[in-house]
Amino acid sequence: MTTFNTADKPFFGQVAIVTGAASGIGQATLELLHAQGASVVAVDRQDDVRALARPGIVPLVADVAREESAALAAKTAMDHYGRLDILVNNAGIIINKPVIDMTLDDWNGIQAVNATGAFLFSREAMRVMVPAGKGSIVNVGSYACHQAFPTIAAYAASKGALAQLTRALSLEAIDHGIRVNAVGSGDVVTNITNHIHADGRKFLAEHGKNAPIRRAAEPREIAEVIAFLASEKASYIVGAVVMADGGMSVALR
Ligand SMILES: NC(=O)c1ccc[n+]([C@@H]2O[C@H](COP(=O)([O-])OP(=O)(O)OC[C@H]3O[C@@H](n4cnc5c(N)ncnc54)[C@H](O)[C@@H]3O)[C@@H](O)[C@H]2O)c1
Repeated sequence: MTTFNTADKPFFGQVAIVTGAASGIGQATLELLHAQGASVVAVDRQDDVRALARPGIVPLVADVAREESAALAAKTAMDHYGRLDILVNNAGIIINKPVIDMTLDDWNGIQAVNATGAFLFSREAMRVMVPAGKGSIVNVGSYACHQAFPTIAAYAASKGALAQLTRALSLEAIDHGIRVNAVGSGDVVTNITNHIHADGRKFLAEHGKNAPIRRAAEPREIAEVIAFLASEKASYIVGAVVMADGGMSVALR
């Protein structure tokens, strides 16, 4: 009889949706959950996500800000695997602009992905998880859930909203056996600022040196926290924003 090492594959038999899966933290999370036994619906607006297709990974090209995307992602999970255990709301974007120069489209564009996208995907996940009586939702927040710098008003407002969505939804969800939490990420070397800086990855690596740990994170380090929060190991963590920021929320250096 085949026996599975559930210590190595804690997500064996489980099904996850990961948004923003084509790059950075989302891709690292997808790979980690998949390596630990989960089947994953990998959602991204970039066509590149299709290249991630393999047994146990179903790519879905979709914009999280569109209402129909969340329902399609949940349907994809149910059609392929018949269940949904984990949702990781990771897709996110940033702009750097002072409020005085910001257009309404700038503002709305950030809220639509970072806050509204998480709401829409959480709602559809809840519609599947509530009847099942279990599940875990992990939102990818930021130091900007709590802190701010000049030029990140739209981003900080969206991540503040995400933190409050995490807390409020956790209270509705826990009555159904569903835990909702967030990770508050510090600087991570990814492509997220490539549209702002000539070398966005270098900018993030340098900016990370302001944290007490004096470096930015690699995507895998945040993925580990996401996987922990998604797992049974975090069974008593509800409505938390767990900071994984190298101490940035304690003090800047
Ligand atoms: N990199 C950092 O320093 C940092 C710090 C704190 C928080 N975060 C958060 O981590 C999350 C992941 O960011 P990352 O750094 O890995 O960035 P990234 O740019 O490397 O990856 C983000 C992915 O999300 C996708 N995406 C963006 N908008 C989308 C949409 N509307 N629909 C579907 N997919 C969409 C992108 O195509 C991309 O593949 C974001 O929520 C971000 O705010 C990042």
